Amino acid sequence: MTADHVRLEGRAKVTGAARYAADRRPAGAVYGCPVPATIARGEVVAVDSDPVLADPQVLAVLTHRNAPRLGEADDPTLAVLQGARVAHRGQYVALVVAGTPEAAEQGAARLRVEYAPEPHDVALVEGHPGTYAPELANGGHPADRLRGDFDTAYAAAAIRLDATYRTGPLHNHPMEPHASTAQWDGDRLTVHDSSQGGHGVRRALAALFGLPEEHVLVVNEHVGGGFGAKGTARPNVVLAAMGARAVGRPVRLALPRAHLAAVAGHRAPTVQRVRLAAGPDGRIEALAHEILTRSSTLKEFVEQAAVPARVMYRSPVSRTTHRVVRQDVPTPSWMRAPGECPGMFALESAMDELALACDLDPVELRLRNEPETEPDSGRPFSSRHLAECLREGARRFGWAGRDPRPGARREGRLLVGTGVAASTYPVLIAPSAAELRAEPDGTFLVRVNAADIGTGARTVLALVAAEALAVPVERVRIEIGRSDLPYGSVAGGSSGTSSWGWAVHEAASRLRERLARGAAVPPEGLSVRADTRELVGRGAEFARHAFGAQFAEVQVDADSGEVRVRRLLGVFAAGRILNARTARSQFVGGMVMGVSMALLEESTMDPLFGDHAERDLASYHVAVNADVPDVRAHWIEERDAHVSPLGSKGIGEIGIVGTAAAVANAVHHATGIRVRELPVTSRQML
Ligand code: MOS
Repeated sequence: MTADHVRLEGRAKVTGAARYAADRRPAGAVYGCPVPATIARGEVVAVDSDPVLADPQVLAVLTHRNAPRLGEADDPTLAVLQGARVAHRGQYVALVVAGTPEAAEQGAARLRVEYAPEPHDVALVEGHPGTYAPELANGGHPADRLRGDFDTAYAAAAIRLDATYRTGPLHNHPMEPHASTAQWDGDRLTVHDSSQGGHGVRRALAALFGLPEEHVLVVNEHVGGGFGAKGTARPNVVLAAMGARAVGRPVRLALPRAHLAAVAGHRAPTVQRVRLAAGPDGRIEALAHEILTRSSTLKEFVEQAAVPARVMYRSPVSRTTHRVVRQDVPTPSWMRAPGECPGMFALESAMDELALACDLDPVELRLRNEPETEPDSGRPFSSRHLAECLREGARRFGWAGRDPRPGARREGRLLVGTGVAASTYPVLIAPSAAELRAEPDGTFLVRVNAADIGTGARTVLALVAAEALAVPVERVRIEIGRSDLPYGSVAGGSSGTSSWGWAVHEAASRLRERLARGAAVPPEGLSVRADTRELVGRGAEFARHAFGAQFAEVQVDADSGEVRVRRLLGVFAAGRILNARTARSQFVGGMVMGVSMALLEESTMDPLFGDHAERDLASYHVAVNADVPDVRAHWIEERDAHVSPLGSKGIGEIGIVGTAAAVANAVHHATGIRVRELPVTSRQML
């Protein structure tokens, strides 16, 4: 049964009662503003702090010379102010702490930093001499997988496609920029941090400041989006804690949006060569997907864009590889469906090209290449309803009778076309813990360190508890977003609901059993804790993925080249949908972000300065209401016994996967112009 429940915190959010990290003003709080490097590579040789310290409002200027020494960081991007080296433009070289936000900002702007710059290398080009084969790609996937003799099979095939696709760097830009408020009480540290995972931030801060984890409290009660950029601790929380220790007062540090592009991660650019060989019937005989991407000199991050090609289509022979080059650029990281999102733009565009080459309908081509088992591993699928998504989507969209010829449909100046693409996202589940307490007044309290980043997690977990307890959700209260609650995994990888929900379900089921057996509820309540560490490995003998299909209709103005999406329809098979209202919002949100990627989002690497040129929402364009007139999301009632007792697969990311390809394929259908480099703009149409 699918619930349809409004967000529990919706009222608090729209009335302004909800408190975010930067809303916290502990007594005596002061303000921090970091100073970004203005060179892309080199060293800080001098910092002239005196003129800034002359302002009586300024309390401290921290640089690598006087900042507290930090312990070993797992994440090198968190070793802030620990040395003179500058690894990329925008990396922090100082922190100004002052009595007002304005004084901190002004001090940061006035601080004179002298550098010894070195030539930088920021252009991602094929054949770069620094290119190497990493061992693993993001997500722990082997970088290379080779099955059979690709070259021979490819050369022997009747129909061959060889195309290179490019995606540029993209930035997450959550509505709420990163912010932290930090406060020390002796050797205990409390931070309010805008984060997708409080326990991860706690672990990082404990290691950096040499504290037992129990001495660090991370609060993230409300989070205004993240899309992966807040999946790990960021320099802002480290600097807030550092600043607070240095001045002996609480420090609030809210990053200006202009800083995010350099210090909060981004989607790495890719160059993707796809080769598909098929028989005249469209059956794939050989598949190669080869990725070139880049990371920073600080840290290896390999966008796993060839991984979905290991899951999608039957092919007796395949080659999927990742190559990377480390450059003087900001460190890339997770952005909504890392790997699957850019990878499926290329693969699903290539499938569209192959359909034309085989003279087959693109839905039919995909159906003909449905695998029996996961192509790369041979494991059986726990469930796979891609064919159903394609058929149901085609029916709802009105695909039948489509004239396949590009440019055939014209409405005055407008060229109109339709396109389809498939989507996939893995089922990821992490260990979590939860506590369920029966209160003497007949209500129940759920305690779990989940993070609700706008997904509706709080609401869904209350529904999971209510269902397991067999009580109305109105009798359930929930506490999330504090690291002193039972351990919760990160709100990332579309894993939150299944991971926290499994623990909540387990604790609630046990509590219900105890109550059914007549357990009394004492005045302090009756508590049950569950931990899924021993449970989450179950089902791993299956290939577990969600699937979907997106259909797009676009119009292209033949005179101006303007491209607009008219409608977008997605059908998903993502296991059990627990709450229709918030699930639809996730699917639609993902698809809107996919339209944004297809038509608007573009970060350009400035070769001279060596950083991303777009640093605000006036220059980094994201889709707004007028860009997405009609977006619909549907799902198939899918039962999957091999994922978790909840049966849910994860829905946060799959909506973006495939959308950009569906749009680009529709643009080709409208105009005959194949765009292999995003975004699709009027430039390529004229
Ligand atoms: Mo998502 S990129 O796993 O936060």
